[in-house]
Amino acid sequence: LPLVTELDLPTFDYADPTLVGEGFHEALNELRDRSWVARVDLGYVLLDREAVDWILRAREARMPAIELLELQGVTSGPMHEQLSGNLLNLHGEQHRRLRSLVEGPFTPRAAQRLRPAMRRHLEALWAPLADAERCEFVSALAKPYPARMIAEIVGAPIEDAERLGTWAYWLQSVFDPSAVAGAAGEIERAGKEFTAYVRELLATPRPPGGEALLDTLHAAMAEGQLSTAECVGLVGAVLIGGVDTTQAQLAHTARLLAEHPEQWAALRDDPDLIPAAVEESLRYEPITPFTARLTSVDVTHRDVTFPAGTVLIAAAVSANHDPAVYDDPDRFDIRAHRGSAKPLTFGAGPHYCLGASLARAELEEALSFLVERVPHLELDGPVSYGTPPGVYGLHEVPLRLSRTPAGAAAG
Ligand code: HEM
Repeated sequence: LPLVTELDLPTFDYADPTLVGEGFHEALNELRDRSWVARVDLGYVLLDREAVDWILRAREARMPAIELLELQGVTSGPMHEQLSGNLLNLHGEQHRRLRSLVEGPFTPRAAQRLRPAMRRHLEALWAPLADAERCEFVSALAKPYPARMIAEIVGAPIEDAERLGTWAYWLQSVFDPSAVAGAAGEIERAGKEFTAYVRELLATPRPPGGEALLDTLHAAMAEGQLSTAECVGLVGAVLIGGVDTTQAQLAHTARLLAEHPEQWAALRDDPDLIPAAVEESLRYEPITPFTARLTSVDVTHRDVTFPAGTVLIAAAVSANHDPAVYDDPDRFDIRAHRGSAKPLTFGAGPHYCLGASLARAELEEALSFLVERVPHLELDGPVSYGTPPGVYGLHEVPLRLSRTPAGAAAG
């Protein structure tokens, strides 16, 4: 069987900063249509749904979070420490043990119970915009809303949500190699401040009978199931995983619906379409378009052998647009029947996103809140795109918020 190193493969620069928006999709779709595997600077990228699903579930490969950070020259310090204890970086028994300690607030049932809190935060954030005719959606809602929810779930004061959001942004950016190179100072400072903050939260006595994540973790520490360092790592994983991601997905969801006003109108007329709209946004624009794996032994897939020590980038974005799985995959359509194949936006296998149910519920509540208040949604200027590696966010989504449906008589 051929070694991947011997194959004549197309090459791809997945960190090319000019590739955003539709151009990003076009480049990846074209690449996937040529080959299921292509060469990138660090190793190889897997492009179709079958290959991406395979590598995410493969027991012979793990997330090289620390190795990728070390490649950027960060070999010690608070950031290194924080990432070492992140669930994504852990494996086997240690991963299972620690993940089971934080699963409680993230089950589908727990996400269901949090819906009234989501509404409460949406109402508070929307109050200043109640009569506005335009808004910048990222700063108004997409950014503060998930940070407030995570503060509530963790058991941190809501006033700290903004700080938590800023730390999450920098901590999350370690998954984007170009960001590490450009902002090592900010990332290190965020790691240091965040670790000190969590240690202080842990040292503060908890009110009896509390149900926040910190209460559970406090109890686990008291029973000797968890060290302080492990606890800091777990709170970090939830914070890193749960703020920037949902923010970015919500911003893209609003952007996609504003670009398709007739679909917004359909949502307004039939709110039962909301879960399908969330699912279609997750499929169409996965804000985690790439993740990475490192093979620990030689592995063979589709008659190609990847030697031990190979870095493989799993491209959820081209997998989610695979025409072998989805009809007309490059059309954003909340009414399309997409079949049973779930998008790979939340990953697959042992590291499947801990917060998937929470994120879906947050996105659904935000859409249901907005369609009740904004009958007609449109872009009010150009969208400012972030870069896809790491978390693919949007810096700005200017929206026009017409209070009457398009075509309806005002007043
Ligand atoms: C739309 C929003 C979100 C997206 C697209 C997303 C995406 C992902 C993906 C792709 C992974 C797996 C990465 C890999 O296997 O390499 C992951 C893991 C993870 N996510 Fe999310 N996520 C989102 C929201 C959240 C939320 C709200 C939380 C809050 C708890 C969260 C916490 C985590 C954690 C802790 C992991 C690591 C799980 C483990 O290693 O066992 N995520 N997420």
